[in-house]
Amino acid sequence: MCGIVAYIGPKDATPFLLEGLARLEYRGYDSAGVAVTGRTGGIKVRKVKGRVADLAAAVPARFKGATGIGHTRWATHGVPSDANAHPHLDNAERIAVVHNGIIENADELRAKLTADGAVFRSETDTEVLGHLIAAHAAEGVELEEAVRAALGKVVGTYGIAVLDAEQPDRIVVARNGSPIVLGIGEKEMFVASDVSALVRYTRQVVHLEDGELATVRADGFRTFTEDARTTHRQPSTVDWEIDSYDTGGYEHFLLKEIHEQPGSVERTLGGRLDERFATAHLGGLNLDARELREIRRVKILGCGSAYYAGEMGAQLIEELARIPAHSEPASEFRYRNPVIEADTLYIAVSQSGETYDTLAAVQEVKRKGGRVLGVVNTVGSAIARECDGGIYLHAGPEISVASTKAFTSTVVAFALIALHFGRIHDLSPADGRRIVSALKALPDQIREVLAQSDAIAELAAEYADSEGMMFIGRVRGYPVAREGAQKLKEISYVHAEAYPASELKHGPLALISPELPTVALVPDDELLDKNLTTLGEIKARSGRVLAVAHRRPEAKLADHCILVPKSEPELDPLLLNIPLQLLAYHAAVALGRDVDKPRNLAKSVTVE
Ligand code: F6R
Repeated sequence: MCGIVAYIGPKDATPFLLEGLARLEYRGYDSAGVAVTGRTGGIKVRKVKGRVADLAAAVPARFKGATGIGHTRWATHGVPSDANAHPHLDNAERIAVVHNGIIENADELRAKLTADGAVFRSETDTEVLGHLIAAHAAEGVELEEAVRAALGKVVGTYGIAVLDAEQPDRIVVARNGSPIVLGIGEKEMFVASDVSALVRYTRQVVHLEDGELATVRADGFRTFTEDARTTHRQPSTVDWEIDSYDTGGYEHFLLKEIHEQPGSVERTLGGRLDERFATAHLGGLNLDARELREIRRVKILGCGSAYYAGEMGAQLIEELARIPAHSEPASEFRYRNPVIEADTLYIAVSQSGETYDTLAAVQEVKRKGGRVLGVVNTVGSAIARECDGGIYLHAGPEISVASTKAFTSTVVAFALIALHFGRIHDLSPADGRRIVSALKALPDQIREVLAQSDAIAELAAEYADSEGMMFIGRVRGYPVAREGAQKLKEISYVHAEAYPASELKHGPLALISPELPTVALVPDDELLDKNLTTLGEIKARSGRVLAVAHRRPEAKLADHCILVPKSEPELDPLLLNIPLQLLAYHAAVALGRDVDKPRNLAKSVTVE
C-alpha cells in the first residue's frame, strides 16, 4: 500500500525521506519518489518505477532541501511507471503532492482542469490534486487555504502531503480515510503514513483524525478541520521498540515475528489475568458487568486473517460465555445493510487499525446506534479511535505482510474477553481457573512448537511442490484450517483450500489424489475418532496426509505428523496454528518467494 514521508527542519530532508521510504517498503509498493524545495527556489523531483534503492541511486548528491516529501506508490489508477509515481506537480511546478487513497471524482475534476488549461502528465487520480491546489494558490493565499479549498471539491479518501515552492517554510498535510502521523522533533518535524518511518527520530506523535489538516513547520504544527476550525491535539508517545523494525538476525521479518510469539503473547496477557477470581481484567472495555450481562449476541468484524482470528474468538465466546457469537468479513458486512441490534456487541479486529473496510464497518454500526469494541494492535490507529472501547494487543509492530504474531495475540485477546464474559455469566470458578492456567502456559508451549522449526522446514520442502494443498479441521479446528490455507497461499502462492473435515465427503473428496496432499488438524478432543475416520477416507483414495496433532495417528492414517503440546480444548486452536505458520514460511522459502512482501499484497489495505 502507498506510503508517505515528509520532513521540515534545519537538516537536509533527502536522507530522512529515503530512509523513511525504505522503512515503509514492507507495506508493498511498485514505485517511489521524492520532492524537495530547493535552497534557490523551485521544487526538485526524482521518481522511479522500482524499489527505493533504485530511487536512491537516481537521486544526485546535489538533491538537497530543508523541506521535502516522499512516497511509495501501489498502483491503483495507471500502471507502475516513472510518470505515474508520486510526487505530482502542477504545470507551473510550484505545488508538489503525494497522496494515499483514491479520488473518486478524479475523472470529472480532470476534465474540468483540462478545460481550464491544465496539462496532465500521468494517468493517476493524484495529479488532479496538484493542479487543483495550484488553481486555488493565487497571490497572497496561504498554502493551507489553497489545500482546504481544493479538498472541498474532492470526493474520496486521502492522506496527502503538499509542498509549495513559494512557501517552503511549511508542509500542509490532510487526512480523510488514510492515515497521517506527525512526528515532533527538536526544531524539526516529521510526517509519515505509518509511525515505523519516523520512530527512529522521535517517539512524540500526533495521529490526524479524518477530516483534519495540519500546517507543519520546523518549530511546530497547527491542526484544523476542513471548515477551518482550529483543533487541539496532544501528542502521544510511541512505546514500540526500535528493534522491532529490524530483522534482528533472522532471515526474514516473518520468521522473526513467528519466533517473537512467546513474548508477544505474554504482553497481550500482561496484567490482565486475575487468578484469585479466575477471570480477566480488561479496563479498556468501558462496559460494566450490568451492561455486559445485557448482551445477547456478539458479532465480530475483520478482514482476512483478522476475520479468521475472529472466528476463533467467536468459538471461544460461545464456549466460555455461552453467548451466541459469529465472525463476518467486515468487507462484506458493510455492503449488505446489516441489521444493527442494541443488544448485540460488535467487535472490530485489526492489526493495523487502518483497514478501510473494517473502519467503514465500524462507522456503519455506529451510525445505526450499535456499540463497537476494538481488538487492535496499533495504538491510536483510526479503528482504535473510532471504537467505544476495546483491547490493545501489545504484540509490537508487525512488519511482514502476512500476519502471525498479531493473529495469535488476537486469539489470546478473545480468550481474555470470553473468560471475562464467561465469569459474569455462568462459567464456574473451576473452569475459569482451568483457562487462566492454560493461558499462562501458552508462551512455553509456543516455544516447544517453535523448537520444531527445522523439522517443519524439511516437511515443507517435501510438500512445497504439490499442485495444491487441502487443509481440514472440525469445529474448533476449522478456523485453524482456514488460517493455515490463507498463510500458505499468500506467501508461497501454492493453491490452498480449507474445508470442514465433515464436509469432505460432500464434494471435495473428489479432488483427493497424491498430487493434492491434505494438512489435517487432529486435536485430542471429543472429535478425535471422527477426524481419524476422515484420515482413513483420504488414505483410501491415495491422498497424502500431514497431520498436526496431539498424538501421532497410526502410520496407515498419516504420512507425516507434527506434534503440538496440548492445552485446554478451547485454546488448542491457537497452538495448532503455530506449525502452520512455520509450514507456510518454510514452503515459501523453499520456493524462493519474496516472503515478507508477497506479490500483489500490501500490509494494510487502506483503500476499498
Ligand atoms: C494475512 C493478512 C491479511 C490481514 C487483513 C486485515 O496474513 O495479513 O489478511 O489480516 O488485511 O488487516 P488488519 O488486521 O491490519 O486489519
